[in-house]
Amino acid sequence: MRLPPLVLITLVSCWASVSSRRHPDPPPLSARAAAAINPAERTAQYWVEEAQAGIRARVKHDKSDGVARNVVMFLGDGMSVPTLAAARTLLGQNRGRTGEESQLSFEEFPTVGLAKTYCVNHQIADSACTATAYLCGVKNNYGMIGLTAAVPRRDCVASLDNSTHVASIAEWALQDGRDVGIVTTTRITHASPAGAYAKIANRNWENDLEVLLDGQDPLLCRDIAHQLVHSYPGNQFKVILGGGRREFLPNTTFDEEGTQGLRTDGLNLIEEWQASKESQNVDFKYVWNREQLMNLSQSPPDYLLGLFEGDHMQYHLEANNVTEPSLTELTEIAIRSLSRNEKGFFLFVESGRIDHGHHDNYAHLALDETIQLHAAVQRATEMLSEEDSLIVVTSDHSHVMAINGYSPRGNSIIGRSNEVGDDGIPYMTVSYTNGPGARPHDNGARVDVTTEENFGSLRWRTHAEVPLEDETHGGDDVAVFARGPHHALFTGLYEQSRIPHLMAYAACIGPGLHYCNAATHASYSSIFLIVTLLYMLNALNLHR
Ligand SMILES: *[C@@H]1O[C@H](CO)[C@@H](O)[C@H](O)[C@H]1NC(C)=O
Ligand SMILES: *[C@@H]1O[C@H](CO)[C@@H](O)[C@H](O)[C@H]1NC(C)=O
Ligand SMILES: *[C@@H]1O[C@H](CO)[C@@H](O)[C@H](O)[C@H]1NC(C)=O
Ligand SMILES: *[C@@H]1O[C@H](CO)[C@@H](O)[C@H](O)[C@H]1NC(C)=O
Ligand SMILES: [Zn+2]
Repeated sequence: MRLPPLVLITLVSCWASVSSRRHPDPPPLSARAAAAINPAERTAQYWVEEAQAGIRARVKHDKSDGVARNVVMFLGDGMSVPTLAAARTLLGQNRGRTGEESQLSFEEFPTVGLAKTYCVNHQIADSACTATAYLCGVKNNYGMIGLTAAVPRRDCVASLDNSTHVASIAEWALQDGRDVGIVTTTRITHASPAGAYAKIANRNWENDLEVLLDGQDPLLCRDIAHQLVHSYPGNQFKVILGGGRREFLPNTTFDEEGTQGLRTDGLNLIEEWQASKESQNVDFKYVWNREQLMNLSQSPPDYLLGLFEGDHMQYHLEANNVTEPSLTELTEIAIRSLSRNEKGFFLFVESGRIDHGHHDNYAHLALDETIQLHAAVQRATEMLSEEDSLIVVTSDHSHVMAINGYSPRGNSIIGRSNEVGDDGIPYMTVSYTNGPGARPHDNGARVDVTTEENFGSLRWRTHAEVPLEDETHGGDDVAVFARGPHHALFTGLYEQSRIPHLMAYAACIGPGLHYCNAATHASYSSIFLIVTLLYMLNALNLHR
């Protein structure tokens, strides 16, 4: 499976930069930095025990009873705390108000906590190691999914050792007979949704070509698209909605909208997904546009695969809302579909392009994608009862956007500050510490960005300090909002890897199951006590 070096170099130079531009590979840790890390953190057990100890300490304050039949986890990729404040202000201003007093739907949830997002080998995380934390309950290395930190990045052979594999909450739900769905606005093979199903030594291995480019064997280490279609648990998912058709198609074919496939193994995984459902004799449907999706929305098939773009789905503000489904529409169909299982379901929904807007210093787009998440969560709260459905809304990592200056109330959050710098030149209320929005100085002076021709357009970059091709993630904590059974457990400040353990506790699945068995025992013994008391009272009556 090794390509000759010349072919590899050519392939690398024309391709590798595309998929890894936003999350460049940091240099490997120095021996000293690596030695400073507690080796226990490279095991799954360390993080599982850390989470369980946290739950034991908090359970005594948990007044709520009941079990979450359904769990919906919403993720705003890159949705930092300043992003929340700016997005709620924009939401209000879009409605003609001052804005600051507005609330995003999930900001009304009864519980909010904070999660620490660092990874085992990185102070500032990417979406792959964080997905492993918030979906599998284990922290691992930057750029890797569903494996412990014992596996070095790109080490295919090390990743085959199944003692390094960690199961996701999607697997815990399936093992309990519940259904699972994943929804995203990015490629469905992108790092966040892949956290629900993939075990992969490099997040960029979304198709077989990317595995080859790293000099690894794609037959040994299957790419993410292949895992989704053919491996457990992806092959059990009832709902799969997002973008990324190109990862599933051969490079000799073009998808329905003209995007060329990327696969070099000749596999058409969209057809293979359909063939595998056909062979299992189950009800299934593949759709690629909004009309087809809306057509089946009242009676979705048992298995639904919807891929709406060759690459990521478009930004909501730039998409044609007649041909492109919104995150709210995708969420609604997913919930309607999964709700048919009486045992319940786990659904993961990602607004994945908040991150992309920030990386490009397109603040308006990043904030609008946050508003789309707000709308999707709103719809979920209307469809699901607080009595039996846990909804958790969080982010994977932060970004370096700040809200700065002393603007008056109601000042446009995406506009300029009413103040100027000490140099007399205006600045924006929302700006970034780094990114492509950095402007070279003009004769030693900052430029006045408000005079630029495309100032205020959607793809105008707000200004940044340090010039970088791509704005970076931030290392600060992210918020966690919860509503539904055992929501109060989500208060406090904790490791991000605790989140799926808290959800599992509330749902009585996976590692949370033993708590429920214990609780059942407790209630059985109280029933026994009551029955005994009644029997004694009855006996006393008889003797009177
Ligand atoms: C790991 O692989 C071994 C050998 O192939 C197998 O016996 C074992 O059941 C696997 N364990 C898990 C957790 O999959
Ligand atoms: C498709 O992949 C094959 C195998 O790597 C390669 O030889 C071929 O040039 C590619 N075709 C296109 C159109 O990129
Ligand atoms: C919508 O559904 C109807 C009835 O099942 C079918 O006749 C029609 O072709 C469908 N339209 C699309 C775009 O799939
Ligand atoms: C699409 O956008 C138009 C114009 O903003 C709006 O009037 C319409 O309600 C939207 N349709 C949907 C389905 O959101
Ligand atoms: Zn990112």
